[in-house]
Amino acid sequence: MRTTTGWQAEDGTAGMAGTAGTAVAPLRRVPLHRRDLRPDDLAVRVDYCGVCHTDLHSVRSRAAGGDPYPGGPHPLVPGHEFTGVVTETGPEVTGLRVGDPVAVGNIVDSCGACAMCRAGQENFCHAFPTLTYGGTDRVDGTATLGGYSREYVVRERFAHALPAGLDPAAAAPLLCAGVTVWEPLRALGAGPGTRVAVAGLGGLGHLAVKLAVALGADTTVITRSPDKAGDARRLGAHGVVVSTDPEQMAAARDRFDIVVDTISAPHDLGPYLRLVALDGTLSHVGHLGPVTVETLDLLIGRKKLSSAGSGGCGSTADMLAFCAEHRVTADIELLPSARVNEALERLGRNDVRYRFVLDMSDLD
Ligand SMILES: NC(=O)c1ccc[n+]([C@@H]2O[C@H](COP(=O)([O-])OP(=O)(O)OC[C@H]3O[C@@H](n4cnc5c(N)ncnc54)[C@H](OP(=O)(O)O)[C@@H]3O)[C@@H](O)[C@H]2O)c1
Ligand SMILES: [Zn+2]
Ligand SMILES: [Zn+2]
Repeated sequence: MRTTTGWQAEDGTAGMAGTAGTAVAPLRRVPLHRRDLRPDDLAVRVDYCGVCHTDLHSVRSRAAGGDPYPGGPHPLVPGHEFTGVVTETGPEVTGLRVGDPVAVGNIVDSCGACAMCRAGQENFCHAFPTLTYGGTDRVDGTATLGGYSREYVVRERFAHALPAGLDPAAAAPLLCAGVTVWEPLRALGAGPGTRVAVAGLGGLGHLAVKLAVALGADTTVITRSPDKAGDARRLGAHGVVVSTDPEQMAAARDRFDIVVDTISAPHDLGPYLRLVALDGTLSHVGHLGPVTVETLDLLIGRKKLSSAGSGGCGSTADMLAFCAEHRVTADIELLPSARVNEALERLGRNDVRYRFVLDMSDLD
């Protein structure tokens, strides 16, 4: 067993269970164990880890006494989009070497044999992919602990070479936020001649805008925050629709081939479906869980409702190459990891432009 240091959520305390803005710091700096390297493993010194809204959902759920993952109670160490450097390799590691910059996202293993895995969609593995935190290791059955930590041990296949030219801090959010919007944008054909709208300008949303613009799509931001309009245009968006203004929403009816919904709270899909064009698609990748759909909102215009999450190994590598070529990284606010609780609390207040990234070097 190897020992490192990381940030662990407290169990069953009130804290983050409160409404946004009333959160109490719930993460504590603790020693953590990592497994000894297996033949196809490598050890990564985690340098930068993005703060995803899913981390906040998980911490809040834990604080409320819930445990969203199977396998019973286990420590919660969030963090599933990180970059770092390989520090050690197992004997069967062939593609990466000590010193290589790498990036790890929100899945760290899959069965490798099912139809989804064989199709390169490890993220949809029929045996369920191993999540970077809150998952269960396929070999030893231990709970996975995430990237809010100085070291991570991962199978080589799920560590992606970080292309030269990508700033490692600003690239970290590509590994969850980026690839989660990249796959649906690609699968739905975003590009020249398509009209894309991105609902919710946060971590996922701002990367969806940058990627859609870089793909050549006519791109619009749908936001309930009118003060983000300037940022939206700076990110490359061609239009902005303020979702709280019924006139603007009515004027945008049936206008977009693809609407990527990244909103982090439960909400009515109707207003967003009504923005989808004939035969277009609403890709709902934000807040997951049950939704109610008025089928007339699909019927009128033969519209499609879809979802997605994370990425396969191949498309993650494709996305990183595309981002290196088109100079796409996240707009980040870099904080020492000791300020993780402040980052989570501000994320809960929608006070982030547009992704917090933790600098893990203070864990040495
Ligand atoms: N499918 C997946 O695999 C996957 C992967 C990563 C994250 N997620 C989920 O995606 C969601 C977004 O994550 P994120 O990290 O991008 O979060 P984020 O940075 O907090 O951004 C979410 C954005 O949603 C909008 N929003 C928030 N509350 C809203 C409300 N009540 N009504 C309308 N709009 C609201 C805000 O945009 P405006 O101010 O512009 O309105 C906010 O910036 C989270 O629920 C996260 O768990 C899913
Ligand atoms: Zn995430
Ligand atoms: Zn599989």
